[in-house]
Amino acid sequence: MESNADKIREILKGVRYANAGTDIVSDGLVKNIHTQEDKLVIEIEAGGERGELLALEAHVKTILSKNNVPVEHIKVKFIQVEGAPPVSPLVGVRKLENIKHIIAIGSGKGGVGKSTATMNIAATMVKMGYKVGILDGDIYGPSIGRMAGYESTVPVKIENEKIIPVKKHGIKMISFSFLIEANRAIVWRGPMLGKAIEQFLFDIEWGELDFLLIDLPPGTGDVQLSLVQLIDLDGAVIITTPQGVALQDARRAIDMFDQVKVKILGVIENMGEFICPHCGKGTHIFSSEGGKTMAGSLEIDFLGEIPLSKTVMDSGEKGFPITAIDKEHGEAGSDTLRVLESYESIVKELLKKIQKD
Ligand SMILES: Nc1ncnc2c1ncn2[C@@H]1O[C@H](COP(=O)(O)OP(=O)(O)OP(=O)(O)O)[C@@H](O)[C@H]1O
Ligand SMILES: [Mg+2]
Repeated sequence: MESNADKIREILKGVRYANAGTDIVSDGLVKNIHTQEDKLVIEIEAGGERGELLALEAHVKTILSKNNVPVEHIKVKFIQVEGAPPVSPLVGVRKLENIKHIIAIGSGKGGVGKSTATMNIAATMVKMGYKVGILDGDIYGPSIGRMAGYESTVPVKIENEKIIPVKKHGIKMISFSFLIEANRAIVWRGPMLGKAIEQFLFDIEWGELDFLLIDLPPGTGDVQLSLVQLIDLDGAVIITTPQGVALQDARRAIDMFDQVKVKILGVIENMGEFICPHCGKGTHIFSSEGGKTMAGSLEIDFLGEIPLSKTVMDSGEKGFPITAIDKEHGEAGSDTLRVLESYESIVKELLKKIQKD
């Protein structure tokens, strides 16, 4: 791949560091490009904060992978700038204070039900007596606000330079979209992204939480990488639907987490079985148990499945997580009960997994 070095340099001209200079190649930061075993190693001289370096690494990987260099073959090595503080390991960069467990919820493919599952897992945990927060990490397509029932603007307060999350259905939550509405000047583009995310993550006043769930955007790009590398996560949960394409993308997401050494807590299969709201009977519309089989073959825990249910969809549209209702609630139809039981069982599995590790 040595002969490719010039091509790689050309591609890397699309990356700037910390929003300064022309680009990392023209600025002379790319010191060496070579191959080592099956890895393309890119040595970059850069000082600064860890968050900035992580964002830089994420950008380098993203832009190269868009140019057909598989992410798993890229290794970014930072060379220390003389006099700068040493570059530290990439994972577990910062702990969020007063939060016992932080779990990222991701998927390779969009629209598989991450946000819906995040809301419903959170509401289930609240019913079990836990203090729960949701961070909507989806910058370009935030949906937590809508799913929580906020129609337009969300009343976010900023006190002592800290963002105060809103609380709905017993869940504290914050979304990039809330802040954009709150008119904070934030630049959500290019090299500033990593920096903005960092600011966002560490400027929220969560108070004490048992669980913080991070609803990740779909895919395996720079936002996801920055998010999962900047905080000390307990691990990630992958949501998938049983179709082949979704499973393939889920594997890609699992690879991404593996690569940045984030533990996979387990896989949840969503929308595999349709539950009839009238008779309560289930039908597997796709080949059954795709998620379970994938989890098994990758030796990852299977946390459970959530059936496809009109009630789940309707409740999301209405801004009320279905799991916020009580099982004993007289109006709960049989499909709703199935959904509530699924979530309860998934959360229990998740708790077991976290306590075991
Ligand atoms: N179990 C389910 N039963 C019925 N509908 C569901 C279920 N899970 C999710 N949905 C519906 O599927 C759609 C996509 O769900 P959602 O927005 O949660 O996916 P997502 O993975 O977060 O999407 P994105 O990738 O765009 O962030 C929504 O309309 C939601 O109501
Ligand atoms: Mg979503």
